[in-house]
Amino acid sequence: MELEKVLLSRKSCRAYQDKAVEAEKLEKIITSASLAPLGLPKMCTPMLTLVTDKAILAQLNGIYDAPAVIIVSCPPSPAPGIGDQNAACVVEMMSLMATDLGLGNIYLYGVTVGLQKDTELKAKLGIPENFTPLAALAVGYGVEDVAVCKEFAPKLEITRF
Ligand SMILES: Cc1cc2nc3c(=O)[nH]c(=O)nc-3n(C[C@H](O)[C@H](O)[C@H](O)COP(=O)(O)O)c2cc1C
Repeated sequence: MELEKVLLSRKSCRAYQDKAVEAEKLEKIITSASLAPLGLPKMCTPMLTLVTDKAILAQLNGIYDAPAVIIVSCPPSPAPGIGDQNAACVVEMMSLMATDLGLGNIYLYGVTVGLQKDTELKAKLGIPENFTPLAALAVGYGVEDVAVCKEFAPKLEITRF
């Protein structure tokens, strides 16, 4: 897909088919995360956790029964907010790649709130103690097909000088 078409087709998917995502597609999405810009990469590079195991997915809240979730966790940052911003860049890259592959997806913050508190599950997922889950992407075949659903029009307020 052309970039503009991907941008116009990306939207939050909250209803998924009960169908696994092909491993090659998941690998492509995960690889796209590595192309994201990162602040303070030597100190604040995020780690990813891919969850497709149904028993573990069932322990995650607010994932809309998606068949795959990629959690983005960051180490403590010496500058406020860098971890959150890095996680956002990574999730958005993966979201655009998932859209390009025809997969429904959604940026999730809510799921990380529960996970931050659930130290047992965090440990089970191999997320180091000093890493904080900050954002996630749920991915799967949506009930609706991916298609252009937006228009290329400015919505955000802008002040020009
Ligand atoms: C930082 C961030 C956190 C979000 N967290 C959640 C979430 O926890 N649960 C949810 O259903 N949607 C979440 N969303 C999705 C937004 O609700 C959605 O992107 C917004 O309503 C715009 O809709 P669109 O993605 O279809 O364009 C989040 C989006 C962003 C950017």
